[in-house]
Amino acid sequence: MPNWLKNAIFYEIYPQSFYDSNGDGIGDIRGIIQKLDYVKELGCNAVWLNPVYDSPFMDGGYDVRCYKKVAPRYGTNDDLAELFKEAHKKGIRVILDLVPGHTSDKCDWFVQSSKHEKNEFSNRYIWTDSVWEAPPQYRLMCGISERDGNYLVNYFSSQPALNYGFAKITHPKWQLPTDHPDCLKTVEALKDIMRFWLDMGCDGFRVDMADSLVKNDDDKRPTARIWRGITDMLKREYPEAVMVSEWCNPERAINDAGFNCDFYLDHRGNGYSTMFRYTNYETGEDESYYCKDGRGDITVFTEEYTRALEKTAGNGYISFITGNHDVPRMTRTLDDRAIRLAYATILTMPGVPFIYYGDEIGMRYIEGLPSKEGGYSRTGSRTPMQWNSGKNLGFSTADSDKLYLPVDTSADAPTVENQTGKPDSIFETVKSLIRLRRENPDLQPDAGFEVIYAEKGKYPFVYRRGSLVIAVNPKGKAVSVEIECVGEKIFEIGTASLSRGRLVLDSQSMAIFKS
Ligand code: NOJ
Ligand code: CA
Repeated sequence: MPNWLKNAIFYEIYPQSFYDSNGDGIGDIRGIIQKLDYVKELGCNAVWLNPVYDSPFMDGGYDVRCYKKVAPRYGTNDDLAELFKEAHKKGIRVILDLVPGHTSDKCDWFVQSSKHEKNEFSNRYIWTDSVWEAPPQYRLMCGISERDGNYLVNYFSSQPALNYGFAKITHPKWQLPTDHPDCLKTVEALKDIMRFWLDMGCDGFRVDMADSLVKNDDDKRPTARIWRGITDMLKREYPEAVMVSEWCNPERAINDAGFNCDFYLDHRGNGYSTMFRYTNYETGEDESYYCKDGRGDITVFTEEYTRALEKTAGNGYISFITGNHDVPRMTRTLDDRAIRLAYATILTMPGVPFIYYGDEIGMRYIEGLPSKEGGYSRTGSRTPMQWNSGKNLGFSTADSDKLYLPVDTSADAPTVENQTGKPDSIFETVKSLIRLRRENPDLQPDAGFEVIYAEKGKYPFVYRRGSLVIAVNPKGKAVSVEIECVGEKIFEIGTASLSRGRLVLDSQSMAIFKS
């Protein structure tokens, strides 16, 4: 496990929306370089960059056309190398997004693979052996190539699945086993891409749809086996490189595949979603635990999480996110106070936390935007960063109709500028929490986690991290419980007290006590 991960706090940057350095309306790498001091002042010491590769942008860049070339709209490979260098000077690590499961249909590998004549890329993707062969259980694109066959899709139609083989072969004429030489070549090609960027100075990868390599892979062990080969290679050749998986199955991703971190994602009904984003479809009521209506149930989370934590202890971390480019920002459903409580929880949990750009100031989820580059409902979480009260809220000097996406036009749109110095702002809360976490080993990944109070359908939620007790009451009503601990208050949102074993938390409050 690379040591630097043990006190890492990541900041996720969606490059097209962060900062536009040349006034063309799109965020770029030089813009990120110019804002590194901001990342540092926020307290983050690592950055995850969403894909910056050459792409036709049918899926925000997750449709890679060339794995080894920076998209011209973001700059050049040299700019990216400079970003690594400048970030390192400031003590910030940078991980890139690795998209191993699919490419764009405009990628040269795919262009070659679609040809009638057999060539070295014919098996790089998954093709049926005739255009008339289209078993309905597979997502196939039919009748659009010179090659007589249909290709398997990994996500959108423009994202053909790379071929890592099949765990269970149901159609032997066109499905290859995972140890077929052509499938092994796909793995080698992936390693080659990783080495290319690691040699240039990147510090690791966030891996897109890490569980999607092998097909017909129900238990995901064969997929994990491929990753184990790759993560073993990294341990030998790049021991400082970090691998973070988009998998949401910590046992498989960490214990079996060898990832250092696995994201705790918003999968409907799982522990994470029931904390912050859980609408009951039948009643339409918000039942997330952090909604002030107080209808949530924390035990869905505590049971799932503590089990996963125990199983992966010592092998890797489970990462909490404030949000990401795929989910609605919390502002869609939670009020500012609830969001501060939510972040206080995320930033005091074990694992390596990730802050999505703009979440630290409570940027809004913008409703009703037309889809941009395959964003669809995700588009509202991808609008430009709001820096100050200047033109386009400081994101770009371009005319507003030239912007990648419109900036939040509401009169009270939060910005870094208008929240700085306001103690009750989301921004200052996040900064204080990050400081507290970095100064306090008890809040870092390796310190213990123990649930002190979590009852079905009840509030508050109280847990211990080493010598610290963290108590949160997201409900819009005061609550109190008897707990066996004493301590001095070192952090508070709202009003909370702990004396003679009685913990009292006002409506929407939290506190950290040190014993
Ligand atoms: C997950 C990424 O986060 C998302 O943005 C993308 O559309 C899909 N994977 C497909 O690559
Ligand atoms: Ca630009």
